Amino acid sequence: MFDPTSPTFLSNPYETYSQCRKDSPRVFYQPWDAWFLFTYKDCSVSLKEKRLGRAPVFDENDSVSPSAYLPVPEHHQPIYEFSRHFMLLSDPPTHTRLRSCVKKSLTPAAVESFSSVLNGIVDDLIAGVVCKPSFDFVSDFAIPFPVRVTEWMLGLPEHDREQVREWALDAIGMFEFLPTMKTLDKAAVAFTSYSEYLQKMLEQRNTGVGGDTLRIIDLLLDIEGEKEGLLSRVEVIAMLTLLTMAGHETTVNMFTNSMRALLLHPQELEKLLQRPALLENIGEETLRYDCPVQFIGRQALCDFDLELPSGTLSLKKGQQVLLAIGSANRDEEVFEESELFKIDRLDASKHLAFGMGIHYCIGAPLARLEARLAYEKLVAFLPYLELVSEPAEAIDPGRGFLFRGYQRISVKWKDSFNRPSS
Ligand code: HEM
Repeated sequence: MFDPTSPTFLSNPYETYSQCRKDSPRVFYQPWDAWFLFTYKDCSVSLKEKRLGRAPVFDENDSVSPSAYLPVPEHHQPIYEFSRHFMLLSDPPTHTRLRSCVKKSLTPAAVESFSSVLNGIVDDLIAGVVCKPSFDFVSDFAIPFPVRVTEWMLGLPEHDREQVREWALDAIGMFEFLPTMKTLDKAAVAFTSYSEYLQKMLEQRNTGVGGDTLRIIDLLLDIEGEKEGLLSRVEVIAMLTLLTMAGHETTVNMFTNSMRALLLHPQELEKLLQRPALLENIGEETLRYDCPVQFIGRQALCDFDLELPSGTLSLKKGQQVLLAIGSANRDEEVFEESELFKIDRLDASKHLAFGMGIHYCIGAPLARLEARLAYEKLVAFLPYLELVSEPAEAIDPGRGFLFRGYQRISVKWKDSFNRPSS
């Protein structure tokens, strides 16, 4: 019986996924009035379906419908007020307008120009761990790397780093399916505080305080205005908030999951050392094998029959459909030996870890660049690292099942590593 809240499922969802793909590729989960889909084909067809949307669905009283994605009690108004300007939670035409404002700043060519800054961060983080006899890869690398990348892109001062990470973590809780009141309370506070903080940052930037490097924050300010096609001030703040949140936990998880997979599969690491051209594939195969975001949510925008490869699904307006992309990425109909981590898998990049269709992850080129640059340098150190214990906690117990990453990966240097003294 599929239960997305059971601790066994949360600690290792892959066995359940495999069984579901075989026996019941679509499951109606009564407590949430939601459909879960598990196969690659069903997920990809749904991601391209225009009648499945992302914005909260309203009923005739302008309230969010009971089964909609985002519940909005009065004191959580800041979340609602704010997130309605997120491209991730909007449908066309609003989505198209918001996305087109920022997409040029995040193309593969645009982010390639961040390389020297990113390389500097990687060098700095590696220098910090080589002088320690043992370290936690999560807190010493996986978390600070994306945090510092965001800090640079948004031109935020270094001394606010910890606070910004805390806000990002709290705010991202709203993306959980049916988040708890406590999660939403924290998210509401984080949204209010972070938007006030960004408001101040933008004011300082307008008056020329804050440096002259052209970063995303400046590009957004360039397209701020009241005319059609431009972003309002609240939309600029919402965009910066979304980029902070969306690029954070996801990228941290990509790093924790890739490091764990490499350390637990020494034969794959060996292949990598023999064939450095496989470096590009570390990110792709990790995103497929142990996906940082396990589910994508959609809602029916009207009553309709969704024709899926597994059969027809009759949906009511506002009903949720949860696409198990973590399962789709292990679908044996698409990926040979799908349960194995294989660094030389040729078609790994067919994964759905970045989604598909109009909401396809706009930060994918940046995440891929971060993975490539980090592993170009980390790979030389990997043969000298060993796990101190099995990585702890694939999930944060206080959270739901949306994200999958490890909270601690304790590693130590082997005796053969010539460690510089600190
Ligand atoms: C490995 C890292 C990442 C993963 C696994 C990931 C995953 C995803 C997924 C699955 C979606 C689609 C959600 C949907 O269809 O509802 C998405 C969208 C999005 N991602 Fe990422 N993401 C990553 C990194 C980033 C980064 C670094 C940024 C920011 C620079 C970012 C910004 C966004 C935004 C703004 C959207 C919404 C796009 C839209 O609605 O059109 N992501 N991401």
